Parts: sequence; structure tokens; C-alpha cells
Amino acid sequence: MTLFPEVVRAVLDSSITGRAQAAGYIKINTYNIRDYSKDKHRRVDDTPYGGGRGMLMAPQPIYDCYQAILKECAPDEKRRVIYLSPKGKVFTQETAKRFAGYDRLILLCGHYEGIDQRVLDLIVDEYVSIGDYVLTGGEIPACVVVDCVSRLIDGVLPAAECYESESLTDGLLEYPQYTRPPVFMGIPVPEVLLSGNHAKIDNWRRERAIEITRLMRPDLLGKKVCAADDESGGEGDKTAAGDEKSDIETE
Ligand code: ADE
Repeated sequence: MTLFPEVVRAVLDSSITGRAQAAGYIKINTYNIRDYSKDKHRRVDDTPYGGGRGMLMAPQPIYDCYQAILKECAPDEKRRVIYLSPKGKVFTQETAKRFAGYDRLILLCGHYEGIDQRVLDLIVDEYVSIGDYVLTGGEIPACVVVDCVSRLIDGVLPAAECYESESLTDGLLEYPQYTRPPVFMGIPVPEVLLSGNHAKIDNWRRERAIEITRLMRPDLLGKKVCAADDESGGEGDKTAAGDEKSDIETE
């Protein structure tokens, strides 16, 4: 639910989330709150009672938009209504994993100076912030949440291993990675990576992950750190992420 569906569509219809929609792994609907305004000028905002700066989003268009969405929902589906707001708990990889367990997430994007509290109290299950700073609206945060949750959905990325060993999934930041050439600007790739010894390589990567986490985000080390999980997913599946060799987006 947004006043700027084109912003959300521009981001989420491209790259991996775009392909994941085309392949049917995820479905992203955008609803323009303005379409539900009963005002003759399609207004969606009004001045705050009690005075104060700026305009507020009025409750009626949001409430009616939400009711229209509910008509599309199966009665037994597991869904959650999320309001993107700096007042929310900060979104983390753990939140993303929890959200991936729902059949449907309904994201409400605010604008102006906020939203009439009554409609928030009526429809919202959870407030979510993407960080301790204030943006002009909830669209970018909504894209962050949808992008992050989508890549946890089966089929969206090539194989489970793509996100099993990456930054933050096991409570550590990702180890440094290298590709060809073996020497670039006089700097060689760490020798162990060319050794073919996978036990040694895993060990080296774990050590580098701990080192980089200690350096960049020591606060993460106080949190849960699990043993490296070595389960690998099936390869060669067709996925929304596209060809294994061209994971870097060039479109
Ligand atoms: N809307 C404005 N700022 C925000 C933030 N930091 N997180 C989520 N929604 C927001």
C-alpha cells in the first residue's frame, strides 16, 4: 500500500526479484492508496488535529485499500501487516527469516508527517524500521524488506548454499572472496584458496570471517555464533537468480 507504486515497481520488477516474479516464485502486488480516496479531488492527506507541522495521511483511503486487499486473500493464509516506520524495531536477517514464513506480507508505506493513528491501530500487526534515520517515505524501506525476504524463498536464489554461508546468516560477516586473475595489480589471491584443500579453505574462511567481524562489527560477536553448517544444496536448478556464472547484475 503506497502513494508511489511506480517507485516500488521500478526497484522490485528488475533484477532477481523481477525474474522471481516472472518465474512465479513470488508475487508482488502494489496498491495505490490514492485510488481508494473518497474525496472528490482524490486527496489522501489532511492537517493534524491540535496543530503542528505538515500533513498527515488520512485513515479512510488506507482502510479501504486494506479492505480491498483482504478480499483477495484466502481466509486460512498466514499474513502479517507491516508498517514501515522509524518507530519500529530495526529490521535484521532474523526478521527477514521470520517474515519468510508468512504466505503474505502486507506492507504499508507512509508519507508526509505520518498516518492517522486510528487506522494504524486498526490494521497494523507490526512496525518495522530499516535503521535509525528518517527517510521521506516507506517505499525504500518496503523494497528493502521485500528484497531481503524474497531471496529466502525457495527458487529465488540458485541454491540454499548461496545464503547459508553469507554475511550475518551465521552471525558473522562474510570472508573476503577472489576470482580470476590469480594476480591483480601485483596482488596475489591468498594461496590457500588455490590449494584445493577444502578443509583448509573452510578453516581459512571462518578465521577471516571472525577477523573481519571483530574489526568491523565487534557488536555482532556478542550475539549467537553457530558452528559452520556444511549442508550444500542441489546445483543446476533453474532459478530467478539466473546463470550461475553471471550472478553479478549487468542489466
Ligand atoms: N520511514 C521513514 N524512515 C524510515 C525508516 N528508517 N525505516 C522504515 N520506514 C521509514
